[in-house]
Amino acid sequence: MSHESKSKKGLLPRHLLAIESSCDETAAAILSHGEVIESNIVSSQVKIHREYGGIVPEIASRKHLEAISLVVNEAIEHAGIEIADIDAVAITQGPGLVGSLVVGLSFAKAFAMARGIPFTGVNHLAAHLASIFLESDTPGFPFIGMVVSGGHTSIYRVNSMLSMELLGRTRDDAAGEAFDKVAKILGLEYPGGPVISHLATKGDPAAFDFPRAMLPDTPLDFSFSGLKTSVLTTVRRLENDRSHLPVEDLCASFQEAVVDVLVKKLIHAARDNGIYEVVVTGGVAANSRLRQRLSSEAGREGIEAFFPSPGYCTDNAAMVAVAGLHQLKAGIEARVDADVYSRQFS
Ligand code: KG4
Ligand code: ZN
Repeated sequence: MSHESKSKKGLLPRHLLAIESSCDETAAAILSHGEVIESNIVSSQVKIHREYGGIVPEIASRKHLEAISLVVNEAIEHAGIEIADIDAVAITQGPGLVGSLVVGLSFAKAFAMARGIPFTGVNHLAAHLASIFLESDTPGFPFIGMVVSGGHTSIYRVNSMLSMELLGRTRDDAAGEAFDKVAKILGLEYPGGPVISHLATKGDPAAFDFPRAMLPDTPLDFSFSGLKTSVLTTVRRLENDRSHLPVEDLCASFQEAVVDVLVKKLIHAARDNGIYEVVVTGGVAANSRLRQRLSSEAGREGIEAFFPSPGYCTDNAAMVAVAGLHQLKAGIEARVDADVYSRQFS
């Protein structure tokens, strides 16, 4: 059964309300006249989950439920508009944590039904890829797009905002998940990405030779679990030797291994497809070493690299608004029986 319907005519909403609740951020944004992000509110649960060393799904859904009305109201207020001005809603439908997605989708459905306005269900990965269009410097179609986050490491050929072909994905851990797990091994706080990248600036990236899984048979797929295990084994060995843990060197060497793999595979995808514009999105795209190395190494190959600004790399609703806008313009609206989905299928 399809949970989408295609209306005959596309819609350009005057004020689009977008909501994101797939993981541990409750976010809402208003996109006006298809052009201006009037407000972009993100309420993060990071401090709550930090106590547990990672996201606790049950707590995440409850916190979304507490935050969602407040966050939406704040977005409307910041935009200087009234509820009655909103004429469409975009909502993250999946993939993500089911209990968290359900909170956002139910809110969006209730809001849209009460107001008699359309709503559209957005794929979280498509939203990350769309985040590049929040910037002034944008690529043309087709481009090679990568989503590198806590839940995904996937490469797409992006033909349009409504047509994306999956070229490769991780077989095990996502890159952001590897940052989070290595931080835990090193006794650092959650989420691991920001803290590891900060400590890495003071370490030697060549101090430890961690493995880079290049997977020659499927060169656009990723695997980060061997790297994580190698860091764990190294840390155990150093602890057994009672030596002082060189945390900064471990962070720098681990980060370098991740960045090496991401940069090489992205350039490989671009060359293979004859496409010379690459876009990197998702939480790990905020990593400054990745930004710096990809820009220079891609540049040498005549490939231009695009990144959203760091605030648009991590989960937010402005990117959901951009993806939702393209769907509404194409007449793609969700039906009232639309359900969430936890996994990405293509
Ligand atoms: O896109 P995002 O906010 O949520 C998901 O959709 O997963 O990504 C969160 C992930 C976390 O794993 C976090 O450790 C990672 O992005 N991250 C980073 C950095 N900032 C966030 N990883 C590396 N370097 C960073 N600066
Ligand atoms: Zn995300």
